[in-house]
Amino acid sequence: MDMLEIIRKKKHARVLTKEEIEYMVAGFSRGEIPDYQMSAFCMAVYFNGMTDGETAALTSAMARSGDMLDLSRFGCASVDKHSTGGVGDKTSLIVGPIVAACGGVFAKMSGRGLGHTGGTVDKLESIAGYRTSLSPEEFFAQAEKCGIALIGQTGNMTPADKKLYALRDVTETVDSIPLIVSSIMSKKLAAGAHNIVLDVKCGSGAFMKDGESAHALASKMVDIGKACGRNMAAIITDMDTPLGFAVGNALEVEEALALLRGEDIPDLREICLALASELIAMCRGTSAEEARAMAENALCSGAALAKAREWISAQGGDIDAPLPKAKAAREIRAEKSGYISHMNAEAVGRAACLLGAGRKTKDDEIDFAAGIVLLKKTGDFVREGEALAVLHTSSEEKLCAGEREFLSALEISSEKANKKKLIIDILR
Ligand code: URA
Repeated sequence: MDMLEIIRKKKHARVLTKEEIEYMVAGFSRGEIPDYQMSAFCMAVYFNGMTDGETAALTSAMARSGDMLDLSRFGCASVDKHSTGGVGDKTSLIVGPIVAACGGVFAKMSGRGLGHTGGTVDKLESIAGYRTSLSPEEFFAQAEKCGIALIGQTGNMTPADKKLYALRDVTETVDSIPLIVSSIMSKKLAAGAHNIVLDVKCGSGAFMKDGESAHALASKMVDIGKACGRNMAAIITDMDTPLGFAVGNALEVEEALALLRGEDIPDLREICLALASELIAMCRGTSAEEARAMAENALCSGAALAKAREWISAQGGDIDAPLPKAKAAREIRAEKSGYISHMNAEAVGRAACLLGAGRKTKDDEIDFAAGIVLLKKTGDFVREGEALAVLHTSSEEKLCAGEREFLSALEISSEKANKKKLIIDILR
């Protein structure tokens, strides 16, 4: 077999065999296929796509390129969730405790922030003492005892995806559906859970900017997961505007805990309950209605909060300890009166990054206290001079950069915009 022939076939939109795809992934992982040939392949896929069979073969070869977590000891109870990335998305911190309180085992590896989107591991590291790295024995023992263990990606899982993702990032080939499907699903399959829910974000803060591409991505991921024997569901959710009111690591942990303590944060609550219900229905074998009632009860009764307390303390953290507080803060005021007709989530995410909540390069340090608390959201009426948001960071200079970017995210108009659907579709 020969990589040049593989590139040539894809360049002419011909279909690759499973053997060719396996040869390519194995050769690339071992460093025998150079980055420049793999880049050419990715660009050919970007323009010519892949069939479902090719995408499944790529996913499976990447999943098997490194270690695979064996969660079979938990039988049908193991659950996992994946978000395609958003702004203010702290749902794992809430869905995990809800599902664990209902008998699921949320034994999960999470990622760090990427570009303008946040990552669960960064959020958890803002809790003093929380250990995002556990030995395999500790990880399994905690999942068994408490029903949740949430750590960063460890070991040698999906090395082919790590290399390929880094290459796609610098060759403008990230936004290709077959490449996104294989990247996400290879990691989910290697992570071992029997039941998987995907939160496919759609809108200005998401990879998928429109409903049609979000639907195509979601349905391909669901099909591949099912073909590999997993129970699958995908929820397509709005990410045109940030989720909840807080953006930034410690601020998001505070908001997640507030929801678990009973505060009403309507959009965040709704998406968390929808994701948790899908996982409960799959792992407990209940109807959608029963699962929803169980999820709501776990949240309202305080069982999910108790589970969060048990989980975080088992991993060395204390949910009652103070979270990092920013040295500098500034209220941002409306430049004119009117309705907020659009709040570009990607620009809000970029503003949070400028304040220190994200990284520009993978070695940058995060300021856990940095971020934005929204006081108004899309659809709200504001008067000139009224506070829209509070920016949190460490210096005046960062406040100025963050303010400029935050204001660029907003459109204020005399017309009230139509409310967008929060849950756009559910695929099972
Ligand atoms: N998230 C991933 O893990 N991979 C992609 O390709 C895109 C988003």
